[in-house]
Amino acid sequence: MTYVKPFFCLGIASLLLVSACAHDFIQFGYGGANGPDKWGSLSSEFQLCSQGLHQSPINIVKNATACNQNLGPLTRDYISTKASLIHNGFSIELRYQESAGKAVVDGKNYSLTQMIWHTPSEHLIEGERFPVELQLIHKSDDGNIAVVAIMYHYGHPDAFLLQIKDEMEKLAMEQCSADQEAQIPLGVVQTRALKRRTRKYFRYVGSLTTPPCTENVKWNILGKVREMTKEQANLLQAPLSQKYRYNARPVQPLNGRSVQLFDETQRNKKPS
Ligand SMILES: *[C@@H]1O[C@H](CO)[C@@H](O)[C@H](O)[C@H]1NC(C)=O
Ligand SMILES: *[C@@H]1O[C@H](CO)[C@@H](O)[C@H](O)[C@H]1NC(C)=O
Repeated sequence: MTYVKPFFCLGIASLLLVSACAHDFIQFGYGGANGPDKWGSLSSEFQLCSQGLHQSPINIVKNATACNQNLGPLTRDYISTKASLIHNGFSIELRYQESAGKAVVDGKNYSLTQMIWHTPSEHLIEGERFPVELQLIHKSDDGNIAVVAIMYHYGHPDAFLLQIKDEMEKLAMEQCSADQEAQIPLGVVQTRALKRRTRKYFRYVGSLTTPPCTENVKWNILGKVREMTKEQANLLQAPLSQKYRYNARPVQPLNGRSVQLFDETQRNKKPS
């Protein structure tokens, strides 16, 4: 009867694999017992998630935004450098080994360190949710955070994702483990597709959209919605376990915060 044994072992191994793919080290989720309304009580370090008054994401309502031409164009100067593609348990992320250039926000330099995709979008514009939101995370030398967020609807392929298609597919095949992120080295990633000139963006002060929900994050939501194919959006979800494929936190109250709009096309118009 010894020939039965290998099959038995295989059965156990694959069972373990399935449960391990749940990424047990991630404490929070997007529904049920560890859903967004519970984040604040999951850990003492997550308290801001329920008690913070300046949280993200938000719904951007254009007639409630204030035009502020003094914000000036969003200056971004990215370089193409080495990165890794990461399945961190709750989202797909691209992480740089060293700074990939900078964005200048309110005269301060912030280095691009990582980018995270959310499906669907976390921010809403006029109540509209988009299939995908890409968040480019920047950090200053003194530890402050600025995020540039880009919304996508379905359409033409996104050039940035096209260049990492093979690695995305590889990531979906990667076996998870209970206590570790899955990682695929990417080599040098071209940032050309990300730094197209921005004529219009919304600025407000909010938080990280995942625990610990750290506040005082400067958000810059690009007004131009970009495109990717549905297949590309599916690839962004494929590596995630079922319960993290929807990884958008619900919108948070503004609590008196203002949302400012910079619009280059309005620049030379005289006030009437
Ligand atoms: C802004 O637009 C929303 C609908 O999009 C409307 O409900 C609201 O009353 C408007 N607010 C102002 C101040 O016009
Ligand atoms: C921002 O970085 C540039 C170089 O990339 C530097 O010349 C400038 O002084 C920096 N600004 C601040 C406020 O540190």
